[in-house]
Amino acid sequence: MKKIAVIFFSGTHVTEEYAGVIHGELVRRGREAQLFNLTAFAARQKPFPAAGFDAFLFGMPVYADFPPSVMSDWIRTLHGGGKPCALFVTYGGRTPGHAQYHIYTLLTQAGFRVRLSAEFLGRHSFNLAGWRLLPDRPNDADFSVGREYAALALERFDPANTEAFSLQKTFGYDLAWKSRVDAPANMERKWTQPVRVKDCSLCGVCEAECPAQAMDAQSGTSDPAKCIECMHCMCVCPEKALQADDRIREFYPSFLQEWGMTDEILAHKQSRIIAAGWQAAA
Ligand SMILES: Cc1cc2nc3c(=O)[nH]c(=O)nc-3n(C[C@H](O)[C@H](O)[C@H](O)COP(=O)(O)O)c2cc1C
Ligand code: SF4
Ligand code: SF4
Repeated sequence: MKKIAVIFFSGTHVTEEYAGVIHGELVRRGREAQLFNLTAFAARQKPFPAAGFDAFLFGMPVYADFPPSVMSDWIRTLHGGGKPCALFVTYGGRTPGHAQYHIYTLLTQAGFRVRLSAEFLGRHSFNLAGWRLLPDRPNDADFSVGREYAALALERFDPANTEAFSLQKTFGYDLAWKSRVDAPANMERKWTQPVRVKDCSLCGVCEAECPAQAMDAQSGTSDPAKCIECMHCMCVCPEKALQADDRIREFYPSFLQEWGMTDEILAHKQSRIIAAGWQAAA
């Protein structure tokens, strides 16, 4: 196994942190590995140099049960050529299953041989908008699972390794995908997206780094038809001049109740490697 690409999308740096740990482990094990951050819109416009790599790891967050739409679109442009890959999702404690199956299907359709999957816990992106969901994750135990995943991926990428791997369709997947497709581009609740709430230096970072070309730095507004609510602009603004809609914060207690997310349940959530044929809870 010569060169490995670690490719990720990350709105609020959770997936980026895992990608860094995974990349570090590959390098520690003597492999040549390169990180690719595909969060900004511009990063996905140039052709990806897949021919220069022998194996790939793809990491991205779960947004409303599925991978970010911009990443699904990007995977469809790739040609895997039968090369091995592994995938991982990061999620805020609710639903990692559909996204893994969805990415698995897209990568397989693009011609990759998917050899491994994983679900890693992370603080919820909406903590930037007033939530307090898994604020201390990822922790050391999560990152340790990340390192194990990197090691197992190397074993699975070995052409001599004939271990079978496939993901079974998750329960309720078709219904969930249909409602996702039928939903408007702004996926969760049709709420308005981040806007500027105070004067700023107009540095332009929020616009340059927006994954969906939704943010206009001059006006300080985001286009609700394009915004994917990733919170990236809020995260990267050096002056903390952007703010999400108040309704996100107000929705938090009923969200916890609706999904039965008690402190006890959340405290027992663990990051997991999905190494064999599997069916996740939807
Ligand atoms: C628009 C949006 C939708 C989300 N939907 C889910 C979800 O359906 N299930 C879940 O467990 N977490 C959900 N999350 C939380 C993220 O998956 C989680 O915080 C992730 O670790 C963020 O990674 P990032 O910082 O790399 O973007 C959502 C976050 C956002 C911004
Ligand atoms: S990143 Fe922040 S400071 Fe820079 S233009 Fe956007 S809102 Fe203004
Ligand atoms: S405007 Fe929307 S899509 Fe763009 S960075 Fe901000 S939250 Fe993400």
